[in-house]
Amino acid sequence: MSLKTATGAAAPMPKAGATGRKGFWPWLNKRLPVDKFVADQVTEYYAPKNFNVWYFFGSLALVVLVLQLVTGIFLTMFYKPGEATAFDSVQFIMREVDWGWLIRYLHSSGASFFFIVVYLHMFRAFLYGSYKAPRELLWLIGMLVYFALMAEAFMGYVLPWGNMSFWGAQVIVNLFGTIPGIGPDLVLWIRGDYGIADSTLNRFFSLHVAAVPLALLGLVALHLVALHEVGSNNPDGIEIKEKLGADGKPLDGIPFHPYYTVKDFVGIAVFLVLLAVVVFFVPNFGGLFLEAPNYEPANPLSTPEHIAPVWYFTPYYAILRAVPDQRLGALLMAVAVAAFLFVPWLDRSPVKSMRYRGWMSRSALAVFVVSFIALGYLGMQPAQGLYVMLARIFATLYFAFFGLMWFYTKWDKVKPVPERVIYHAH
Ligand code: HEM
Repeated sequence: MSLKTATGAAAPMPKAGATGRKGFWPWLNKRLPVDKFVADQVTEYYAPKNFNVWYFFGSLALVVLVLQLVTGIFLTMFYKPGEATAFDSVQFIMREVDWGWLIRYLHSSGASFFFIVVYLHMFRAFLYGSYKAPRELLWLIGMLVYFALMAEAFMGYVLPWGNMSFWGAQVIVNLFGTIPGIGPDLVLWIRGDYGIADSTLNRFFSLHVAAVPLALLGLVALHLVALHEVGSNNPDGIEIKEKLGADGKPLDGIPFHPYYTVKDFVGIAVFLVLLAVVVFFVPNFGGLFLEAPNYEPANPLSTPEHIAPVWYFTPYYAILRAVPDQRLGALLMAVAVAAFLFVPWLDRSPVKSMRYRGWMSRSALAVFVVSFIALGYLGMQPAQGLYVMLARIFATLYFAFFGLMWFYTKWDKVKPVPERVIYHAH
């Protein structure tokens, strides 16, 4: 049937969807805003045009998250929690399961790469003042991601039930015992037994494969929502939303797709090559990614010569051991981690990026980076003699970075910030 217009000509049929097009896609979009979402978040989402290499690490963190989830699901198919089965099931995965060694090495190396990527991602925020207003909440959500990541990595490390898994869990869980009043009961509650035991391993497994990954996914989703609400910062620390063109788009912005999807793929390609080199050639990474005592089954009667966590926790571990009193050490360690939460309010500099800050902020950041790396090294060494002295010095510098930030960021002489972002075409 065709309709007639006033002139008698055939008129088009009534429109099928909002867009006037027929077919599956318009049908879907009327019911689920796929096109709108892609436009708002990707093709019409404007990001500063001057991103540099430091902006690779957010998308890389997403890649590692997916890698850990996928390899974790496959490991769970063969891993058997429990004192009597855990260690052997991991050996079974390594020797008998088809490609099991690859899945396991991807997962164990993935954990270290996660922290490398996240530490570089956080360092970028210090370089360009990305935690400052209006991105404080984005930073805080990022910190919650970091806490969840630490919990996830710690519990994952216990699962293979090697000797370092056992003794590491012993040391870390006992730290909760230093909390005044509730400490001893809390430790008992966490372990589910009077020592690190079968019940501890089973609950860590449950938390590692279900609860914490869910929390991580939710927090990362929130992180991205918060990011897209305020928009990305950039190496100049200039808000691109403040300079709009006649079309209402930021003059210094470019659509995320295709410009940054293409750029991110370069980062991902380089990252995958590095990951492959580690996984195929140095999966233990000299004992840094997988420690030697973890090739022996957990043995409550034999303590490893030096108990040390994996490298990404050693800066905090060095602070814990820098003071003889365990309670004070645990408190300092907690403060060392929590200090990051306050940075958006401790930093009173009128400019965001280090490009326009003076020597005080720059030197403070340099001292902090050196201290963090030095503490990381010291945390792997025995807690004695010179190592302890050095740990005390670097721990003091570490805390000075945060403790004095309120002052040096105000006193620092800053340079004028340009009106528009600086961009050199390649
Ligand atoms: C699983 C972990 C994480 C994922 C998947 C993730 C993802 C992302 C992505 C995709 C971006 C945008 C791209 C980029 O700026 O590189 C971003 C930006 C940002 N993230 Fe994360 N992130 C994670 C952890 C963290 C942590 C631990 C912090 C800090 C505590 C943090 C703080 C920030 C900040 C401040 C920005 C904005 C940076 C800027 O615009 O200059 N993120 N994140």
